[in-house]
Amino acid sequence: MKVKFKLNGKTTAAEFRPGLTLLEYLRESGLKSVKYGCDNGECGACTVLIDNQAQNACLVLLHTLGGKTVETLESLGSHDRLHRLQEKFIAAGAIQCGYCTPGMLMALEALNRENPAPGEEQVRDALAGNLCRCTGYVKPVEAAL
Ligand code: FES
Ligand code: FES
Repeated sequence: MKVKFKLNGKTTAAEFRPGLTLLEYLRESGLKSVKYGCDNGECGACTVLIDNQAQNACLVLLHTLGGKTVETLESLGSHDRLHRLQEKFIAAGAIQCGYCTPGMLMALEALNRENPAPGEEQVRDALAGNLCRCTGYVKPVEAAL
């Protein structure tokens, strides 16, 4: 059976099997910015946008996505053309490991779409679900501001 949704701007008809999560599907599809961390909704490494909201892909079953819009970091920027948030992360020295950074960027993108000029408290709230095991939060917050 297939479910149809928009993935990074393209209409996608995805074959699903019972219990297949969006995280598993995205990684099997080669979208490796979406990281497999806790698989339990606790670390934020798998954060994507679903209809402009930051969501943990590990908690979303693929078959529930009919008619929705899913975006991963791959759709925001590329090596040749970085997204504004990626540029700010580089400028602030906030690029950390490849495990936590993509999820942080997606969480902040969701915030910016809702509020283009967030304050520190809102930025910290937006990043609250994105864990860095090295406790590196100061520079990402600075970059976002
Ligand atoms: S892997 Fe999804 S929240 Fe940790
Ligand atoms: S720098 Fe990525 S988990 Fe700490």
